[in-house]
Order: sequence, then structure tokens, then C-alpha cells
Amino acid sequence: MMRATMRILITGAGGQIGSELVTSLRERGYDVHPSDRAPKPDNPALAGVPWHPLDVTDAEAVTRLVGELRPGRIFHLAAVLSARGEQMPQLTYAVNQTGTYNLLEACRLHGVGQLVFTSTIAVFGPGLPDLVADDVPLQPSTMYGVTKVAGELLGQYYARKYGLDFRGVRFPGLISASLPGGGTSDYALFMYVDGVRRGTYDAFCRADTRIPLMYMPDGLRALLELSEAPRARLRRCIYNVAAFSPTAQQIADSVRRVLPDVRIGFVSDPHRQAILDSWPRALDDTCAQEDWGWKATFDLERMTDDLIPRIRGMLARAPDAFSSTVH
Ligand code: SER
Repeated sequence: MMRATMRILITGAGGQIGSELVTSLRERGYDVHPSDRAPKPDNPALAGVPWHPLDVTDAEAVTRLVGELRPGRIFHLAAVLSARGEQMPQLTYAVNQTGTYNLLEACRLHGVGQLVFTSTIAVFGPGLPDLVADDVPLQPSTMYGVTKVAGELLGQYYARKYGLDFRGVRFPGLISASLPGGGTSDYALFMYVDGVRRGTYDAFCRADTRIPLMYMPDGLRALLELSEAPRARLRRCIYNVAAFSPTAQQIADSVRRVLPDVRIGFVSDPHRQAILDSWPRALDDTCAQEDWGWKATFDLERMTDDLIPRIRGMLARAPDAFSSTVH
């Protein structure tokens, strides 16, 4: 079967999505080649898996690695997220914008069939309707959002001009029992992490803040299902995908349903609050549902029940797992 032998390169494989996508793709029989600027994480799931050092801002290194591996498909995940991106806009431009261009060029030069791109709710800007469809004007307020809009447009250009099979999803804030990468949506995860390890957390947003969120198993499935969908069924390159859109207060209530002694407060940080207020409150993913049968399976309460034991397990194995993240 072709799928069983297809070679896949992943950029940013050490990040929040990549660390789990490697395993999902291997379970489906792909020949997976993770790459990252950071060294291979000390994770038993990666035993025996090759690991390619790669800085996506280095065009020559990107072209060389793609030329050596000749992957049939690339999952391009390497990116600096929104909160960290506002502290380092220049680095964010280099990684997200130049990095994406370097990957697209390498696809063109070496005839890579498909590039899967992870876009985001951060491509949208202020003044949105309550439910945001795919084709509203994109007016992002962060460098992260600006570079993701540009990535979407560049990929579509390569699709038209060079026939690259470019596809991607606009992810909600993703939640998982792993280290997030400096996102503005991280307040949601830290209600769980600090709830478990400290019994208390002050979120950096107002209680009525509402953005789209998704649990990682659904996020991984979205990437896999989109990448495996027949091209003829896809009417577009980039799709909104949605799961649930709770207020920050509703997340706190869900944590306290399972951990009743936890105290969660709200101390809004003006910079990150402004970013959150500029994002959609809910995403309309009708096109993804119609074209490739997308449907999320986890709602807030199912996620809470599944996530808390995983966070407990992770903190028991690695007590410092979340300590390097600003929150
Ligand atoms: N989770 C991302 C962020 O907060 C949104 O795509 O930056």
C-alpha cells in the first residue's frame, strides 16, 4: 500500500503538535523523519526514530535536507507562536515567513507532492462576527498572525503556479498534556497544569474571554484526515476547523468539577487580552465538514476528564515539564 511506505518530513517536530504527530504518523505506517532546531527530546516514543537537525531559516539547509530525503509529503509545523512572537517579532518573521518560503521553494526544487501547513485563529483580526467562516477579511494584529496569513497566501500561490498540493487547517488554541510554545491561548492549559500541581492559578485574561479551543487528539486527526483526503474533493487549500468555544470561566468550572479544591482567578494582562479579544469567538468549519468529513469528537467536559489524568502522569514522570513556559 502506498501509504505504508510514503516518506514524511516534519519541521518543528519537537513542538507541541510535532511531538505527538510523529507517533500518530508512525502508527499509520509512514516512514517519518522528524526535524527541529532543538535536539531530539528524551522521549521513549522516539527511540529508533531518526532526528534531523534543521533551522528552517537556513534556506540551504532546508533545500539540502529535502533533497536528501525526497519526502512525498511535508508537515510544516515550525513556528513561533503569538505571545512569544510579540516579544520577538523579528525572529518570528524569520522563522514563520522566511521559513515557510524556504520550505515551499524546497518543495518546488525537489518535486515534493504535498505540503501540509498549520494555520491559526490568529490570522483573523478585530471586528469579527460571532461565528467566523473561512472567507472573511484577514486583519491580524500579531506578527504571528501576519506571517500565517502570508504563509496561507504563499502556499496558494505555489499551488496555482507550480502545482504543489498545498493544504492546511486554521487551528483553534490547542490543548494537550505537553509543553505549549508561547501561545496566547495557553491560559486554558495552565488552568489544568497549575490546578493539578499547585491547586491555584491566575489566568491572564478576563473570565468572559471566549476563543475556539481544540483537544490535541482531534487536532492530530484533523491534520491526518486532511492530508489523506482525495485532492479532487477539496475545494480550497486552507480550512477552518472547530471543536468548542468555552469562556475562560467555563474552563475554570470544568477544572473544578474534577478538582473541586482548585482556586482559579482572573488577572487580565492588557497585551495578551487585546490579542484574545481580536480573535474569533467561534469558528464556522462547514467547508471542512462538507469537503473531507471533518468532525471534532472532544467537547470541553470530555477533554477535562481525559486531560487531568494525563497531566498528573506527566508531572509524576517529569515534575519540571512545564516550568520553562511563561504563564
Ligand atoms: N495557540 C496559538 C497561540 O496562542 C494560536 O494559534 O498563539
